[in-house]
Amino acid sequence: MTSETLWYANRATGAVCLILFTLVVVLGIAVRLRSRIPGLPRFGTIRLHRTLSLSATAFLALHIAFAIADSYVNITLMDAVIPFASDYQPLWLGMGTVAVDLMLAVLITSLLRNRIGHRTWRATHWLAYASWPIALIHGIGIGTDTGTDWMTWLTVACVATALAAAGTRVAVGVRASRRTPAALLRTAEGGARP
Ligand code: HEM
Repeated sequence: MTSETLWYANRATGAVCLILFTLVVVLGIAVRLRSRIPGLPRFGTIRLHRTLSLSATAFLALHIAFAIADSYVNITLMDAVIPFASDYQPLWLGMGTVAVDLMLAVLITSLLRNRIGHRTWRATHWLAYASWPIALIHGIGIGTDTGTDWMTWLTVACVATALAAAGTRVAVGVRASRRTPAALLRTAEGGARP
């Protein structure tokens, strides 16, 4: 493959990663809220979340491999693991590396979920919320296609989708925390009645 082909492949897989990781976050929130995707049973949503996260990871591996293989820029395997150590665009590339490290923690703890226990798994899973915007900033900061019409629309669509899902998650959480004390009180009152 020529350096130019690798460069295009890196950009294409970067865009695919952005779409897939956005869908993974949205489906993760859907699983947490026990909502169903139209036409899918609940376990289908869980399976889709899992399958898409593995596909996104595969595309991420390709994205990194193309960046390393492209001899026009000096990016090493170490740069994909250790943040801000790269000679090439250290800040923007470093953001991508931080996102990868956080996603790896989420992925590994998910694969070991039965061994590490639900609490540790859930605590680590919160990192997914942090890794998504960090990856987004990496793409905007380093991407050749930043500012083109298609990339701007893709970015706006992904941000709007993730914000809508996160907003729903927060709203449901707030509603549940408001309802809980009232429900407890009702139960207590009900119990006190003769
Ligand atoms: C979750 C992690 C990551 C995501 C979601 C992601 C996504 C993206 C996106 C959307 C772009 C913009 C592509 C374009 O302009 O068409 C991009 C660019 C780029 N990414 Fe990543 N990336 C991630 C991690 C990494 C890592 C760890 C590396 C390298 C070790 C890397 C290397 C690059 C490079 C070199 C470019 C610039 C391509 C160009 O010249 O336009 N990315 N990435």
